[in-house]
Amino acid sequence: MSKANYERSARWKAKDSPVPIHKYAFAPDFVFGASTSAYQIEGGVGEETGRGASIWERYFETRPHLDHGAVACDHYNRMEEDVRMMKSMNLKAYRFSISWSRVLPLGKGKVNEQGLEFYSRLVDELLRNGIEPYVTLYHWDLPQALEDEGGWLNRDTAYAFADFAALIAHRLGDRVKYFGTLNEPEVIVAGYIGDGLAPGLSDPNLRVKVAHNLMLAHGLATQALRSINPDFKIGVTLNLVPAEAKDAANPASVNAARRHWLKNYAIYLEAIFKARYPDVVLEEMAATGAVIHPGDMAIISQRIDYLGVNWYLRHVVDENGGIIDMPGAQKTLMGWEIHAPALTRMLVSMNEEYRLPPIFITENGAALDDTFAKGRVRDVGRMAYIHDHLSALESAVAAGVNVAGYFAWSLMDNLEWSLGFKMTFGIVHVDRNTLVRTIKDSGLWFRDMIKFNVRGSRKSGKRR
Ligand code: NOJ
Repeated sequence: MSKANYERSARWKAKDSPVPIHKYAFAPDFVFGASTSAYQIEGGVGEETGRGASIWERYFETRPHLDHGAVACDHYNRMEEDVRMMKSMNLKAYRFSISWSRVLPLGKGKVNEQGLEFYSRLVDELLRNGIEPYVTLYHWDLPQALEDEGGWLNRDTAYAFADFAALIAHRLGDRVKYFGTLNEPEVIVAGYIGDGLAPGLSDPNLRVKVAHNLMLAHGLATQALRSINPDFKIGVTLNLVPAEAKDAANPASVNAARRHWLKNYAIYLEAIFKARYPDVVLEEMAATGAVIHPGDMAIISQRIDYLGVNWYLRHVVDENGGIIDMPGAQKTLMGWEIHAPALTRMLVSMNEEYRLPPIFITENGAALDDTFAKGRVRDVGRMAYIHDHLSALESAVAAGVNVAGYFAWSLMDNLEWSLGFKMTFGIVHVDRNTLVRTIKDSGLWFRDMIKFNVRGSRKSGKRR
């Protein structure tokens, strides 16, 4: 049988790797996987699929100069091939999201069976290949029909989301154990306050209203899932960008950094783990007319089984609350500083401040300028990035943090939302003309690293 396209890059040899394969000091059941999201990879938006429009179709229709996700990686039509590739990469888990409008074209009411069937087949394929599915219920692609009713500014959307979660749990819950409610509420909020994401609104006064409705949606969906099966493992994924003071000896700088963290990131940790919002958020709620109904905080702060953390960068904040550039910092194409030790510091301090459940790093990765030549992507930078972050996690574990798994972002190069296809985060290259997949050197390194760590034979790699 001829080799699949993605296997052509087999000239890679672990023993020659510029970043040696290392045995990390994680628990034996530590999970190694990769992540994607529906709109970024699926395509399959034509009428024949029965999928309804999401806010991204509307967003790109009104911005025709941008790349969009109508085809993306065509995963909708190449799903089986993609799962075989994941298996060849030794992935033990795959985190993907469900497109709400593929399953419920109008966000509620009539179900698109064909859409549900797609996800059901995906789950079957994963399990058949020994890969645990981690389902994200909301990765930024609200059905346009719900946006037309106010989207996340409308409290009813939170209830519609809980119904959608229940539908998915009824259909997939016989095979799926891990459910994540929301992906990155802070970035969902950005779509309403003007940061270049759908639905493309730009009113800073909407910030905490949207944030609260999202938290309510998380709580209601958690309740709905738990009532269907108390054994589900339910979590939420937060993007956490630690704010470090420019000058730790200057109280003004320390306070400004703390305020930045509480307002943008810890708002969600406080709500979920302490049933409250920080003062800085309550002040903003009062000023912008956001309303917390009696009982909301109890719904929001229910127990969850894991916390998903998406980690990419840190912020360094000066005494005026400004985010500053660190001189000489190494950055990714996104302009994000590469600084893995801040991940350890953040996890250790969160562990002291909150009673956290096990943590999965549900995303971590780097957009780098890859060059594809002679069927191979030699992306040492990405390999080093992943290794450095796994080492940072190892240090956090040594300091008592319960880190249960790591998912690379992303399984494959995909649509980086309004920034298009140029921001390549994948450990697999996707040719934009042919859509052929080629595992990058980082993906082959990841494959061998997983094998070495999961099966643990020290002979097959070097210690670093
Ligand atoms: C986090 C988001 O969940 C994902 O959709 C995005 O592509 C990555 N960050 C990289 O920006």
